[in-house]
Amino acid sequence: MARPSLGACHPIVVYTVGMDTLYDGLKTPILEALEKFQSIETASLHVPGHKAGRGLASEFAKYAMPLARIDATELPGLDDLHHPQGVIKEAEQLAAMAWGSDVAFFLVNGSTVGNLAAVMAVVNAGDTVIIGRDAHQSVWHALELARAKVVVVLPRHLGPLIGAIDAVDIEAAIHAYPEATAVVITSPTYHGIVPDLTSMVNLAHTNGMKVIVDEAHGAHLAFHPDLPLSAVSAKADLVVQSTHKMTAAFTQTALLHVCGNCVDVETVRHYLQVFQTSSPSYLMLASIDAARAQLAVEGQFLIGTMLDILREGRKRLNDTFPGLINDGWEGLMSDPFKWTLWSLEWGVTGEQLANAFMQSGIFIELYDEEHVLLVWSYANSTRDMEKVIRVIQQVFHGRSRIAHADLESSWSNEIPRYSTVLPFDTSKKNKHIASLEDLPGKRAACAITLYPPGIPLLLPGESYTTNMIQYIKKCLAFGLRVDGLANAKEGRAWFLSE
Ligand SMILES: Cc1ncc(COP(=O)(O)O)c(C=O)c1O
Repeated sequence: MARPSLGACHPIVVYTVGMDTLYDGLKTPILEALEKFQSIETASLHVPGHKAGRGLASEFAKYAMPLARIDATELPGLDDLHHPQGVIKEAEQLAAMAWGSDVAFFLVNGSTVGNLAAVMAVVNAGDTVIIGRDAHQSVWHALELARAKVVVVLPRHLGPLIGAIDAVDIEAAIHAYPEATAVVITSPTYHGIVPDLTSMVNLAHTNGMKVIVDEAHGAHLAFHPDLPLSAVSAKADLVVQSTHKMTAAFTQTALLHVCGNCVDVETVRHYLQVFQTSSPSYLMLASIDAARAQLAVEGQFLIGTMLDILREGRKRLNDTFPGLINDGWEGLMSDPFKWTLWSLEWGVTGEQLANAFMQSGIFIELYDEEHVLLVWSYANSTRDMEKVIRVIQQVFHGRSRIAHADLESSWSNEIPRYSTVLPFDTSKKNKHIASLEDLPGKRAACAITLYPPGIPLLLPGESYTTNMIQYIKKCLAFGLRVDGLANAKEGRAWFLSE
């Protein structure tokens, strides 16, 4: 199969498969079928009940029309997500070609459902799975459902919430747990760090283990040579991507790619049927289809244009405020579309900076006491960059850099480099509630997760420490969302009776 010259700014991109099948990258099979459908239907006697938008409440219709006209369902010519034979099949094939995988599944419940299905498709009850502690909660939930034994590898770089795992640690875990059947890696991390995927995949494959990469934040990587390596190119077996995060598809859309032949495609399809709705939104499916065509045809141009803006903006800020924006991440690859602003090092809390942005109408991805995370995409512009620079110049004018305040390390240094846990549901019978102050020394009954980024601070069975409790209280005082507490307002949490 020949890949298109990626992103060539040319109206027609042709993929060749075998000797004679031609695919037009500009084609959007699902969208085209919906356009045709809405042009011929004269009366709707099927679900959905809004009947092509005519029944929508007027306050909603003013936003939802004309999209409601293509909010269709499995009707003649529109195919079926769970048994695709027509336009959805064609659109999924085009997606596989665009990203370079062998099979692509369209998802309508985000990378969350991709992670659930991917893990369930390769992990049997009791299997050992090696996983980075930076994994999103959907991966932990999947491992809970799969009833896996989990070997947790601590990110070597920059702490569990921001850092990425290192190939050296994956190698050590593989040697320590040769019975493991799969390795799950997050790449890029929420903050855009891309670990050495190629080494990790090779190590896992050499030892007979399958590799799932949660690439929720990396759907764009395949479309520009200046971006870090994508997980499909690194030859992971299953790759999950949110098309709504870093590319321009609707919220909740995602892809699950199968690469190579180590994973049974029909088992993946089965679990997607288990976890996904039987009434998938055609708005979402069409939006994945259209985003794929956009990326295939002009992705390199769009991404390249924004990369230039990002480089220029970063340079201007680095000249005035060196070190404010993350730079280099300890030598690891990173995604230039993610900016971490280490504001506390300049005497400004993340919350203060987030508020300053908000006062200018700029809403950011996340903040904590130390930093703010900005997520750019190729849909941003020079105008957005100028607005961001203006706020940063106002907030940091006249300030200088002070000692690095690494709040996370107070508790993360206490976490072992490897640990084995049974995720989440160890605790249905013997869990009790106590005030956070009374918990040091006791074991957590369920995961405690800071959201965003949705990465657990504490896993079930791990002991509460004084530093961890202080960190949780700090996050709560900061108004951050901490999931898994029995009562966040009263500062109470679950623990396991021994
Ligand atoms: C690393 C990672 N994986 C998976 C997810 C879930 O993605 P989605 O929101 O598309 O379900 C997220 C969400 O933030 C994430 O950060």
